[in-house]
Amino acid sequence: MEWIWGTWFLVAVLTVCWYRHKSVKNKIHERRGVPKGSSGWPLIGETLDFIACGYTSRPVSFMDKRKHLYGKVFKTHILGTPIIVSTDPDVNKVVLQNHGNAFIPAYPKSITELLGQNSILQTNGYLQKRVHALIGGFLRSPQFKARITKDIENSVKLTLACWKDMHVIHIQVEIQKITFEVLVKMLISIGPGGNLDNLKRDFEEFIKGLICIPIKLPGTRLYKSLKAKERLLKTVERIVKERKLSLEESDGKGTLNDALDVLLYDNGEPNEKQCLPMDFICGNIIEMMIPGEETVPTAMTLAVKFLSDSPVALKQLMEENLELKRQKAESGDEYGWTDYMSLSFTQNVISETLRLANIINAVWRKALKDVEIKGHLIPQGWCVLASFISVHMDEDNYEDPYEFNPWRWEKTVAAVNNTCFTPFGGGQRLCPGLELSRLEISIFLHHFVTTYCWIAEKDEIVSFPTVKMKRKLPVRVTPLSATAV
Ligand code: HEM
Repeated sequence: MEWIWGTWFLVAVLTVCWYRHKSVKNKIHERRGVPKGSSGWPLIGETLDFIACGYTSRPVSFMDKRKHLYGKVFKTHILGTPIIVSTDPDVNKVVLQNHGNAFIPAYPKSITELLGQNSILQTNGYLQKRVHALIGGFLRSPQFKARITKDIENSVKLTLACWKDMHVIHIQVEIQKITFEVLVKMLISIGPGGNLDNLKRDFEEFIKGLICIPIKLPGTRLYKSLKAKERLLKTVERIVKERKLSLEESDGKGTLNDALDVLLYDNGEPNEKQCLPMDFICGNIIEMMIPGEETVPTAMTLAVKFLSDSPVALKQLMEENLELKRQKAESGDEYGWTDYMSLSFTQNVISETLRLANIINAVWRKALKDVEIKGHLIPQGWCVLASFISVHMDEDNYEDPYEFNPWRWEKTVAAVNNTCFTPFGGGQRLCPGLELSRLEISIFLHHFVTTYCWIAEKDEIVSFPTVKMKRKLPVRVTPLSATAV
């Protein structure tokens, strides 16, 4: 009996000590300017509540609860690390701009294991800026825009043509076939066929390990994903070697057709003259598939979901797109990048979808030194989570934030310098695929709403660990009658 009392006594003493230690630490932090907040339980911190909120229909509730208690910037302890969460658009902006390279990306261990050390997603400084500028410049070039518009159109039309014979279409699955093809084309110009199927299979296996328990033993998820990455690297290495050879044969004269050409052609700064190493190029080609692979199909799927629930918006979208289709049929002209991008209501539908969907709901950074923003101290070594979802779903920034309201964008501009709208991040790491993504979604919506009408079955949005439709959004389509066009 005595040992039971003894154990209880020990637990009580330890708990009191822990609370005292915590409150002393909190006071020191507050005196230094570290935002208020709670570190939760020993080891696990507030992770359980963070995950539980992630599984609800309002994943932002974790942030909301703390925002009301401690203010727009607060501290917590999740996923094994002390972290400062910012739901303040001005603070997020400073974190994203990253003047003085004070922050580096901070991903969970399973992701860093799978990304190469030199991946654009986790390098900082000169190399990240160089690859970012090369890829961004290429994606913005008029030649690329003209070519990719045709490629996306072909892919969308072929896929849509198959839908008329299908009983039920799982939008999320079918759309991924279009977007993966476009992504691989833009990166290494591989079209449908053997290599593309192998790449798709291995890539799917590879990304399954991005969010998993970071144990690398045979049979574990991480191990299988690392093996898939080895296979991917082999395929990509072969393609890169062949391309390098043909570039050498043509004496480097030719147009830049894809991201691989851009990376191979680059000779570095004029005073440095340093080509990017082969293993760096191969790794980055694979790692650049990660941010593009799930994001665009998710945005397209959710656009269909939101439109299915909003007949008035769908009607206006159809009218705008049928009008363009009619004009093109009359003039006999081909569609160009600007035709799709200047459909104003369609662009508003896309902006509203991106705001509500919160596909990348936050970015994680680690402070390399003490940084003070708006009076809040982020101590060296701490992580900071710039929460985009909190800004997108905040009544201070958007009236009725949970409403799908594409008309709100008639008054607001969904521009890159709007700090309250950051689906593509911002600053130093602003997504280089921003315009490409908007184009792909526009082309898909244009051809979908001018070819079919549809009825969506009941489905729900799941937000954790990534945004998805629970049942992959099953729909039944009927071809629009020829008279409607
Ligand atoms: C709706 C679609 C997309 C969304 C919502 C999205 C979102 C984002 C966000 C939020 C970031 C910033 C990450 C950070 O700051 O750490 C980012 C970076 C990036 N995205 Fe996208 N993205 C999309 C599509 C694409 C596509 C199609 C590509 C393919 C080219 C792409 C390539 C990249 C790359 C390479 C980066 C890293 C940039 C860097 O760190 O310098 N993304 N994306």
